[in-house]
Amino acid sequence: MLNKKVEKAINDHIVKEADASNAYLAMASWCENFGLRESTEFYYEQSIEERGHMLKLVRYVNENDGRAHIPAVKKPKEDFESIAEVVDLSLEQEIAVTKSIHEIVALCDQEKDYGTTNFIQWFVQEQQEEESLFRSLKDMIRMIGIEGVSLIMLDNEIAKLRQATAVEPN
Ligand code: FEO
Repeated sequence: MLNKKVEKAINDHIVKEADASNAYLAMASWCENFGLRESTEFYYEQSIEERGHMLKLVRYVNENDGRAHIPAVKKPKEDFESIAEVVDLSLEQEIAVTKSIHEIVALCDQEKDYGTTNFIQWFVQEQQEEESLFRSLKDMIRMIGIEGVSLIMLDNEIAKLRQATAVEPN
């Protein structure tokens, strides 16, 4: 049975995953309007991934005798100065999500909820990977910039990242 404090913390975190999914959806839409083809696909995929994270948590709570709450849709930021701002905000968002996951880990420890400690480790690793992904994009932008042909190079690099991080179909 799920510890009640842990259940509340996971429900609070579900909101963050939903917001992340929606934020990436808005970024994908911005990229699509801007004409960055690979970045568009990358951000649509990120949005789907975050929704998957939310579902994983919803189902965990419900399957462990808790009650998952489905959050309202928050209006995401839709206008961006450039792809550099999109990437910066993505990294900031991932850092905030990581912090929230780590708080759940600490709470599980405090409440001796070892089942959830085990379950949540998947998210700890996932966050490390996602932060690293956006840091590498940020580094790339710092090195090559986003003007003219650099923008095409950046979009091509995102294509390579998509291939490298592609999830195998079930
Ligand atoms: Fe599921 Fe990257 O937050």
